[in-house]
This record gives sequence, C-alpha cells and structure tokens, in this order.
Amino acid sequence: MSTANSYIAELREVTMQFEDKTVLDDLSLKVRPQDRLVILGQSGSGKSTILRLILGILQPHEGSVFFKQFEITRLPRRKLQRVRRHIGMVYQYSALLSSRTVRDNVALPLEELTDKSREEIDKIVDEKLELVGMKDSKHLMPSELSGGMRKRVSLARALILDPELVLFDEPVAGLDPVMASVIDELIISLSERSKVTSVIVTHEMDSAFRIATRMAMLYHGKIIEEGEPKKLKESKNPVVSQFLSGSTEGPILEGTKDAITA
Ligand SMILES: Nc1ncnc2c1ncn2[C@@H]1O[C@H](COP(=O)(O)OP(=O)(O)OP(=O)(O)O)[C@@H](O)[C@H]1O
Ligand SMILES: [Mg+2]
Repeated sequence: MSTANSYIAELREVTMQFEDKTVLDDLSLKVRPQDRLVILGQSGSGKSTILRLILGILQPHEGSVFFKQFEITRLPRRKLQRVRRHIGMVYQYSALLSSRTVRDNVALPLEELTDKSREEIDKIVDEKLELVGMKDSKHLMPSELSGGMRKRVSLARALILDPELVLFDEPVAGLDPVMASVIDELIISLSERSKVTSVIVTHEMDSAFRIATRMAMLYHGKIIEEGEPKKLKESKNPVVSQFLSGSTEGPILEGTKDAITA
C-alpha cells in the first residue's frame, strides 16, 4: 500500500488546469526529508503552480497533495492553516506588505500565530535578518529596498517560524553574484544544520547545481527527468540537455523558432 508518511511532500497524480489549459498533467513528485529539490522548467511551465499546490493555496482538479501525513487537498481550513506554519514560502515577487517596515513584515507570522513577547519577537527577527544580511535595514519600508533586498527580507520572513519545509520561488533572481552565493549557502546550511527540507525553483543553472541534491525537470505538464544532478547532466533526453545548456537548437523552441527568425 502506498503511504505518504515517509515523504515531506508529495504530489500524487495531480492535474491542474487554468480555464481550458492543462498546466500539470497527471504529475507525481516526491520530496524526501532533507532533500534540496530543484525544479527546472521553462517560463510558464507550472513551477510556481507546484509550490502553490504544496502550500495549499491552489487546489488541483485531480489528484492529491500531501505534506507529511497530511493530505493538504482534504484538510479543513483551520487545520490547513496550522499545518502551513511548518512550511515557509519565499515568493517569486517577494510579496511584502508595503505599509509595514522590514521588521514588521518579518515579525508578522510571530505576532499573528504565537503569543511571544515583543522582546522575544525582536530577538528572533534580528536573528533571521542577520542570516540574510539585512539587520541594518529593519526600519526601512519595502519601497525603499532594491529587488534583491526585498527577496532577502522575504526569505527571513519564510524562516521566522522555523519551518520544516521551505519553498523557494526564484530565490536568487535579481541578486548580485556574491549575494546569490550567500543565499545558496544559506539554503545548504538550512538542510545540513537545521534538517530543513527545501524545494527550489530557479532558472540560475550555477545556483541550481550548487544547491541541488535532486532535480526534476518539468515539461509539458510532466516531470520528464528526475534524480541526482549528475543524472540530469548526463540525460539523453534532448529537452533536458537543451534546457541545461541554454541552446536554441533542440525540441524546446520547435514551432516558435520560425516565428522568431521570420
Ligand atoms: N491563477 C492563475 N490563473 C490563470 N492562469 C494561471 C494562474 N496561475 C498560473 N497560470 C498559468 O499557468 C501556467 C503556469 O504558471 P506558473 O506561474 O506556474 O509558471 P512558472 O513555471 O512558475 O513560470 P515562470 O518561470 O515564468 O515563473 C502559465 O501559463 C500561467 O499563465
Ligand atoms: Mg514562477
């Protein structure tokens, strides 16, 4: 009998449609404890959709989604909210509240979901901001931050409740190379030191190969290759090798290329 208990997250035969477009097509994906699973795929292939399904923000049309033993797709609202506290999400577009300072954005989950004192909260907020190199900016408003700084604040907020699973949507996009390496190392140390499991969506190949313990390539609604980074690097699948090399030659652009070169 199949069980989801040994996985941190699992999508089981998930189909997801937006209007009449099928974005995920009978897709299955397993995330094991302490994996750093990198999801690769073209823009619009459904990577953010996978993260939103794991978080329970979206409901699939078919199939089920698990976080540990909990079937996210069947949980009542209150229970879902409680389970979600164990999952941190770094959104692709940071999603900070524009009317709150950096400190207040990061503190929000602690203020809403715990009864910690202001002193305790400040201490934890400082700790997390320190991790992402943003402690000196805690009194700034989001509008005063660069894109990369917003991303780092969003990361601090995702870690504030010490989640077991962190979902990263393009965590290093828009960061300079040094800060990108800092975030990569943070993602690695979270899993090695704090036993955090992560799912990372990224287009940055250097970063992907630095952090991944596993990789999955999404194409036309399905996972077409999955395994250790080495397996993807050596993949004979022309879609995978084209994607990894960034070449314009191959099946990915077929059909669109004539339009580009016309
Ligand atoms: N809420 C929504 N309503 C309608 N269509 C949606 C919605 N969310 C996503 N889509 C569509 O689903 C597809 C996948 O979107 P998704 O955001 O998951 O892609 P992605 O792989 O994260 O792309 P990118 O790399 O550009 O961020 C796209 O065609 C998008 O237009
Ligand atoms: Mg996306």
